[in-house]
Amino acid sequence: MSADRLRLDDHIAALEAPQGLKSVLTVIAATCAQISDVVAGGALVGALGASGQINVQDEEQKKLDVITDDMLTQALLACPAIAGVASEEKDQVEPASNPAGEYLALFDPLDGSSNIDINAPVGTIVSVLKSATPTPVEADFLQTGRHQVAAVYAVYGPQTMLVLTTGDGVKGFTLSNDGQWLLTHDDITISPDTKEFAINVSNQRHWAEPVQRYLDGVLQGAEGPRGKNFNMRWVAAMVADVHRILMRGGVFLYPWDKREPNKPGKLRLMYEGNPMALLVEQAGGKATTDGVQPILDVQPTQLHQRIPVALGSANEIDAFASA
Ligand code: AHG
Ligand code: MN
Ligand code: MN
Ligand code: MN
Repeated sequence: MSADRLRLDDHIAALEAPQGLKSVLTVIAATCAQISDVVAGGALVGALGASGQINVQDEEQKKLDVITDDMLTQALLACPAIAGVASEEKDQVEPASNPAGEYLALFDPLDGSSNIDINAPVGTIVSVLKSATPTPVEADFLQTGRHQVAAVYAVYGPQTMLVLTTGDGVKGFTLSNDGQWLLTHDDITISPDTKEFAINVSNQRHWAEPVQRYLDGVLQGAEGPRGKNFNMRWVAAMVADVHRILMRGGVFLYPWDKREPNKPGKLRLMYEGNPMALLVEQAGGKATTDGVQPILDVQPTQLHQRIPVALGSANEIDAFASA
């Protein structure tokens, strides 16, 4: 099975990239394979349920949020090319004390954590930036998404897959039974048109007018202004929703919400919005805050800042922008 498929290790080795970045990608891939094992173990390895702690986002952490955060943190800090890490689950950035450290890894160790106890898909998201210094502070992490040198997610679903860009297209690898990441999805592209949308419609009354108008038009189907019938999907794990869009098109929206104007949207720029935006743009889709402004151009001001997200099939994002 593996003989005729490109291994992720060989793909990384062949990249025109510095050795340090290659070693960071290797560590991310190896750790995601280990996380896949823990996720698959579920109740048998004590991985389900709440941890009893609250994170900096004011969310109740699941045990698996904490376990996966520790796994990624330890593995990355031990990689000599890493200067520092930041995580959804940590208040502050963590410098690595690696004298030759030149990369920063920012991650959502477990995305979709409300899915874990119901055996539905979850994922891991990682953004990689260059560091200006081997002893970074928070300000060194606050770079726009355009500066990312790599973006990766792993989705732990019926198969475990790792989807990667280093700025030259998007490739998908599937974890084999013997623990190898093998290329199964070369040159992933997002179809420009779609009839599928993903939004948590229970928040409708809190959205801005244009978002309400867009959804109204979509829900009117073939009889309405859009002239076609749409279907809705919502996995409640951004990784899985974005993965579906990379596989068969669609749009994913987590818009601004008037309940907390200072926290626009739910999703976090640095380790959810930016890495997913790079993957989506590299696959030919659009990734915006409002249909127009590219997420990758948003200048971050805080490590855990939130942004509205509208990404996916290019023509449908344009339709959203003009609603
Ligand atoms: P996380 O589990 O990392 O905190 O992220 C959860 C996010 C994202 O994955 C998902 O798209 C969204 O929350 C789901 O939100 P709802 O609770 O509104 O469904
Ligand atoms: Mn969370
Ligand atoms: Mn998340
Ligand atoms: Mn998370």
